[in-house]
Amino acid sequence: MCVVGLGYIGLPTASLLASRGFSVAGVDTSAAVVATINQGRIHIVEPDLESFVQSAVHGARLRAHLTPQPSDVFVIAVPTPIRADKKPDLSMVEAAARAIAPVVRAGNLVILESTSPVGTTEEVVARVLAEHGHKPGEDVFVAYCPERVLPGRILTELVENDRVVGGINPASTERAVEFYQAFVRGEVLATDARTAEMVKLTENSFRDVNIAFANELSMLCAREGVSVWELIRLANRHPRVKILNPGPGVGGHCIAVDPWFLVDRAPELARLIRTAREVNDAKPHWVVQRVQQCAAKLRDPVIACLGLSFKADVDDLRESPAVEIVHALQALRVGRLLVVEPHVKSHPDFEIVPLETALAQADIVLVLVDHKRFKRVPREALQEKILIDTRGIYL
Ligand SMILES: NC(=O)c1ccc[n+]([C@@H]2O[C@H](COP(=O)([O-])OP(=O)(O)OC[C@H]3O[C@@H](n4cnc5c(N)ncnc54)[C@H](O)[C@@H]3O)[C@@H](O)[C@H]2O)c1
Repeated sequence: MCVVGLGYIGLPTASLLASRGFSVAGVDTSAAVVATINQGRIHIVEPDLESFVQSAVHGARLRAHLTPQPSDVFVIAVPTPIRADKKPDLSMVEAAARAIAPVVRAGNLVILESTSPVGTTEEVVARVLAEHGHKPGEDVFVAYCPERVLPGRILTELVENDRVVGGINPASTERAVEFYQAFVRGEVLATDARTAEMVKLTENSFRDVNIAFANELSMLCAREGVSVWELIRLANRHPRVKILNPGPGVGGHCIAVDPWFLVDRAPELARLIRTAREVNDAKPHWVVQRVQQCAAKLRDPVIACLGLSFKADVDDLRESPAVEIVHALQALRVGRLLVVEPHVKSHPDFEIVPLETALAQADIVLVLVDHKRFKRVPREALQEKILIDTRGIYL
């Protein structure tokens, strides 16, 4: 089989399939990625992945290439980012489909796993295959299967999670379901391609909308002089209410991106989903203003910024609202910033200082990430500090 795109999704998938006895050709357009993998090493951070890749490569069940190789099954896991205008960039899905089209043979199965706007499997992958003389759904089977793995647990969740699989026609669905049943222990749920595409976007939009509700509450509470944490704790005692936690914004490359794929297809209908994106995108600015208001009352304010990652206990700073906030505070020269991030050694834009140093010197303590390390800080260390706790860890 052939896995196209060897990143956070494609490489664990390729090495897991190799460990299950499949002979896997991995494909990536990055020569550096291909060379690294063929040495049995990895270019991303994920527990257990290196040993999987090492044994797959040394056992000759996984080899990386720059171009697709003839296979029975093709899995496409290339990036699907949004452009600056919030429109989906499907150029890499299209390029991957064009790359595999010449090596696809009758009877093959092509699966798109990249998070994609509704219709992409048919309108991009099947269309490109048809342009190369294939008959998608008849001589070549085409399906969509979204990924829901959690970074840090990818190799476990690839096997344990339930999977939603949808073909462009029933024959494609059937073939794809059989493929996933060969290595997934969770349930493999059959549907059509458009529903499967929308399921993924719905899951992340659900999270985004619910976080936006909590973030909006946090801003209303600040105006009313009410603790949002106490409010949510009490409201959640209602048997049918389950409000999520607010934060400094929404980061990561899924929840902050995928809802735009729904908005783009039907902006006039996806009004709530768009508003949720806007509320969550606005939250970092609101946090910056709060820090500015507090700092304005002090002469030479020193601000401890606790955390840079996009969520707790990871080193992933991509699309992180915490980074956006610290950048803004720096640009606005709000005060002397003492940036703490126990999961990274250095950052190109900020000096990283130890937690104890920051707490000892700060007038304002700004909590941006709920790392376990921060939760252990004794309350005495925060006495006489101005606390802006966007995560509610020091209640
Ligand atoms: N990372 C996650 O946690 C996660 C979770 C669910 C879904 N997804 C989705 O999975 C898809 C892949 O994400 P990722 O995190 O693995 O991306 P990634 O950036 O980690 O890796 C993608 C790889 O694809 C390669 N690539 C780009 N264009 C290519 C092409 N035309 N042919 C071959 N290789 C190509 C890149 O060089 C890169 O190595 C995206 O649609 C993403 O939204 C990711």
